[in-house]
Amino acid sequence: MTASPVTRAVVKGVGHYLPQNVVPNSAFAKTLDTSDDWIVSRSGIERRHFAAKGENTSHLAAHAARAALANAGMGADALDAIIVATSTPDLTFPSVATMVQAEIGAHNAYAFDVQAVCAGFVYAVANANAQIVSGQARRILVIGAETFSRIMDWTDRGTCVLFGDGAGALILEAQTATGGTDDRGILSVDLNADGRHRDILYVDGGVSGTGTAGFLRMQGKEVFRQAVEKLAQTAETALQKAGLSADDIDWIVPHQANIRIIQGTARKLGLPMERVIVTVQDHGNTSAASIPLALSVGAAEGKLKRGDLIVTEAIGGGLAWGAVVLRW
Ligand code: UT7
Repeated sequence: MTASPVTRAVVKGVGHYLPQNVVPNSAFAKTLDTSDDWIVSRSGIERRHFAAKGENTSHLAAHAARAALANAGMGADALDAIIVATSTPDLTFPSVATMVQAEIGAHNAYAFDVQAVCAGFVYAVANANAQIVSGQARRILVIGAETFSRIMDWTDRGTCVLFGDGAGALILEAQTATGGTDDRGILSVDLNADGRHRDILYVDGGVSGTGTAGFLRMQGKEVFRQAVEKLAQTAETALQKAGLSADDIDWIVPHQANIRIIQGTARKLGLPMERVIVTVQDHGNTSAASIPLALSVGAAEGKLKRGDLIVTEAIGGGLAWGAVVLRW
């Protein structure tokens, strides 16, 4: 089959930002019946970053945005759009994306947020891809940014030890390509949701329901079970849509929730852990920020190289889940 020319959304830059305050597992053992040993063995998490008082999601997002622009060698004026994936916005509205737009001076960009919890970045990239492919925009800054420390119940050892704050950003640019599987850029996406599982991972507050911000509630074991089953499936579907298979993967860049979920998914896809970018030990679960953080760290460490085939996958509250196949 001969491919015909297409527009691809190609990665032009990547960057991230983590708040200065690093909190080791031992800090939780002072107030909760928990231990470094339990947290490491059950989740793989060793430390996480927490935002300082007054340091909000938009601030983390703007730092990550500047890092990605510098990495791309691009000015903020060149951006046509900004999409922020977050479930922890500074305010109910306006969007974090408009705050970032003002902060970095991206005066030509339209801006909005996407909320799909831990799958937020995958959803936002899929959305950006569709806008680029359709000609709506040529250059889009896609950010995942969270301050999950603001929705933790610090008395619930089953959740508060697992999450962290941070932001990562990716700049996608329209480029004409062959339409073949060797093209750089986004090659396929697969998105899914099943709202019947809303009760296994949710926040028990909100503007319309309670008028409060609420706290994160999770049935960890059930989420774990769903994650292991659904993540490999969505990755395989996305690969199929791209006309590729797991044998073609250079790197899995998974949502960083739990090392055992990451290992289980890699095993199902038949890839060794050497082919997986893992940051969960240093960041904890940063929800929508975890994939762009891992992409940025993987690139900075020299692991992700131009031309590498990358599969990202994530699942979170909703449930909402999905995968993106892209060539770096
Ligand atoms: O990003 C969105 C998606 N989120 C996830 O993917 C998270 C998915 N779930 C998980 O990562 C894991 O289920 C957890 C890390 C949350 C929990 O691991 P688990 O192996 O499923 O443990 P569990 O929930 O079955 O708990 C085992 C035991 C329980 O005690 P009992 O009932 O057996 O006596 C818990 O009460 O561990 C206890 N426990 C803890 N012990 C020490 C729960 N949290 C802690 C803790 N320290 N922090």
